[in-house]
Amino acid sequence: MAILVTGGAGYIGSHTCIELLQAGEEIVVADNFSNSNIEALFRVKKITKKDFNIYQADLKNKEEIQKVFNENSIDSVIHFASLKSINESIAFPLEYYKNNIIGTLNLLDIMKCHQVKKIVFSSSAAVYGVSETTPIAESAATKPINPYGRTKLIIEEILRDLYNSDKEWSITILRYFNPNGAHKSGLIGEDPNDIPTNLMPYISKVAVGQLKELKIFGNDYPTIDGTGIRDYIHVEDLANGHLKALNKTKVTTGVATYNLGTGKGYSVLQMVKAFENAAQRTIPYKIVGRRQGDTAISYANSSKAEKELNWVAKKGIDEICEDTWRWQKNNPYGYKSTK
Ligand code: NAD
Ligand code: WQD
Repeated sequence: MAILVTGGAGYIGSHTCIELLQAGEEIVVADNFSNSNIEALFRVKKITKKDFNIYQADLKNKEEIQKVFNENSIDSVIHFASLKSINESIAFPLEYYKNNIIGTLNLLDIMKCHQVKKIVFSSSAAVYGVSETTPIAESAATKPINPYGRTKLIIEEILRDLYNSDKEWSITILRYFNPNGAHKSGLIGEDPNDIPTNLMPYISKVAVGQLKELKIFGNDYPTIDGTGIRDYIHVEDLANGHLKALNKTKVTTGVATYNLGTGKGYSVLQMVKAFENAAQRTIPYKIVGRRQGDTAISYANSSKAEKELNWVAKKGIDEICEDTWRWQKNNPYGYKSTK
């Protein structure tokens, strides 16, 4: 029996494929490659020395997903496939609602047809919006402030309704904080299509000389140095969280929601310093105004995942920066050989 990994060619999906294969699981990947490159999956095969089926399939197209279920014995799903840019979701909300929500509805329909009722879903700290409390526990209010975050919250609610209608479902919702880092092999990592909007990919493009300087969004927050504080979690820790979540999903029914974060917060300037140490080069930066929608401090209370999934993040920001830098310097143009 195999686990279907939707969006498995993407950043977090590809790292999770490695974790699953190394734990002896069988997988099948379905991805439309709208924000990824099949080369990532070839590298997953190289790292793990294991083979698996890859489908170019778009969740918006039911026939394409149906084919994946018809041709494989699937017993559970890890559902990463989603569009994830906050700015893009504000500019193109209909695309985001269509891709993320209709894609998920199609997937759930077909799972139901095939009596596959186990799913781990990639949600986000974006569902909390600008939280009034830190650390943020799962019980905090959910008030997303952009269409991307709303797609995640709507899908969470769809999943809860589904479980209420049929108690055979086993659903685990994972809300990630700030995933970063890369596989320690230096072979896979984050490969943004455009100029990155997130901090760490931006810093690493500055370090490799493809961008001139980092713009730091505000140094007047009530934090240790005035810059925003976030919970940076290593993508390999996150991948391990999926394995733990899947193991629980296999043996229980119900719907459970977990934060995946480290429980520690670091400022933008602390991240710049950590990256400079890892790369042994200076990151030029300039302080600019605050970015709309940003909060001063956001980090997770992940004690529920620790207690119920037996999961904790083990890697810190030094490893995040070292691994990001190894990936970036070995693959200056990501999975493409040139710009
Ligand atoms: P990513 O863009 O690298 O991966 C998503 C993958 O899904 C891509 O390979 C893309 O091609 C695929 N995809 C998108 N729409 C699809 C569709 N309709 N059909 C088939 N495939 C489709 O993103 P990621 O960073 O790996 O994120 C994975 C998941 O985690 C997403 O659901 C994202 O919303 C969530 N998440 C990410 C972050 C983050 O900062 N990276 C934080 C919180 C939550
Ligand atoms: C981190 C810090 C910025 C870029 C986002 C989504 C969240 C989740 C993870 C998907 C902040 C500062 C950033 C830059 C900067 N994604 N910054 N200059 O906004 O915490 O979280 O990604 O689900 O939902 O909101 O992450 O990396 O963009 O920002 O100063 O060029 O770095 O202000 O303090 P964020 P980020």
